[in-house]
Amino acid sequence: MKPTIVILAAGLGTRMKSSIAKALHPLAGQPLIRHVLNAAFGTDPEQVVLVLGHQADKVRNAIADSRVRIVLQAEQLGTGHAVQQAVEAISSSPGPIMILCADTPLLTTNTLKEVLALHEKSRAAVTLLTTAMPDPFGYGRVVRGKSGVMRVVEEKDATAAQRKIQEVNAGIYCFEAKFLLSSLALLGKNNAQGEYYLPDTIALARKKKRSVAALLCSDPDEVMGVNSRYDLSRAEAVMRQRTNRRWMLEGVTMLDPGTVFVGSEASLGRDVVLYPNVRIEGRTKIGDTCVIYPGTRIVDSVIASHVTVKDCSVIEESNVASRAIIGPFAHLRPGAMIEEAAHIGNFVEIKKSTIGKGSKANHLAYIGDATVGADVNIGAGVITCNYDGFQKFQTVIGDGVFVGSDSQLVAPVTIGRGALIAAGATITRDVPAEALGISRPPQEIREGFASRRRKMKQKKR
Ligand code: UD1
Ligand code: CA
Repeated sequence: MKPTIVILAAGLGTRMKSSIAKALHPLAGQPLIRHVLNAAFGTDPEQVVLVLGHQADKVRNAIADSRVRIVLQAEQLGTGHAVQQAVEAISSSPGPIMILCADTPLLTTNTLKEVLALHEKSRAAVTLLTTAMPDPFGYGRVVRGKSGVMRVVEEKDATAAQRKIQEVNAGIYCFEAKFLLSSLALLGKNNAQGEYYLPDTIALARKKKRSVAALLCSDPDEVMGVNSRYDLSRAEAVMRQRTNRRWMLEGVTMLDPGTVFVGSEASLGRDVVLYPNVRIEGRTKIGDTCVIYPGTRIVDSVIASHVTVKDCSVIEESNVASRAIIGPFAHLRPGAMIEEAAHIGNFVEIKKSTIGKGSKANHLAYIGDATVGADVNIGAGVITCNYDGFQKFQTVIGDGVFVGSDSQLVAPVTIGRGALIAAGATITRDVPAEALGISRPPQEIREGFASRRRKMKQKKR
């Protein structure tokens, strides 16, 4: 039967020492809670209920997921109390009830399905997920007797002997609905933290002579709880390793995968090569056979196939067509459309502009709010002056135009196809097709001036 899933996310996350709710701290570019939601929805649940408290509105807005039913826990009196707040929402659930915590983001759908399967097979009152931790500090320890799991004791309540137990409670449970609903009211708070502990339901089950099943998760990383920034960094490393491994098995080369970040919503083609310190963020798509050199960051962009992005470039919300070459040190800002085989070189910034097929802007240029045709050459130091301090204006450059170095195109302005702009020009009026635009005082030659000047200086000494 389909499970109803309750995710606990009301806690303050005191150990994060943050003004941001723990559930919203980003992991692999997405809030912690999003990862748990994804794992939960993977099981095809009947319903997902989220218990919120601390910064409830912010968390609700951040997840913006209409499939999730939200209940509030106004005061955080413990994990057992948190589940009590969901009683109304879950009381008519036909199937089992799974409880997850928002701070175990590495959990997979697969493991949840295994917990569910064991729960169904064992007909236990409660099935919990456990794992063996080499350093179990901080976790609830699983106390076993001759007939299996007897109870869970929290670190702060444990005896010295119990603290030596390495099997810990992952905070992930599957309950028979009737058992859970009848047990919640029986939880007390006579413990070191004065809280209503959900894991106390395990001892209650044993007291009622009901069976308790436990699934031992072989990978402790998967159920790691993120309580501090240090835990967050470890989770990030695990996530990175998982994602990068998956892409490498799909045919992506990574020269130093430990330094490469690929967001969970990004996609990479075959024979993509990622050099060290590359970050592929957001909904970026990279086509086959692209090579991305060190230090480059690409965010929410579409890169076609056979594109080369040289070192230390930044590409945001842009489109790059096949065989284009970007960088080194190029900046494509939102709305840059780089067409086939165009070249954008070092210290060139492009914003809200199209650069046509085969066109080149190879050195030190700013192109903003412009439409540049095909086979255009933009010389070194060219600037589209798109802003007069009040408003933005367009620059249009036709096919085959040659824009000489260090010229300024003062928008709004149109350069007709095949026109020539002389180096150092300040173009304020439209230039017709095939014409020359030049704005330069005529050059003067003064014969012998330099040697006369040198002699004068020598006399004065
Ligand atoms: C909990 C378990 C512990 C287990 C560990 C696994 C309890 C008492 N202890 O400890 O056995 O080994 O998880 O990671 O359950 N929350 C609420 N409302 C509250 C308190 C907590 O919603 O009043 C939420 C938190 O936001 C968090 C989750 O419950 O997502 C777990 O709370 P946390 O304080 O992190 O519990 P741990 O001390 O880690
Ligand atoms: Ca925790």
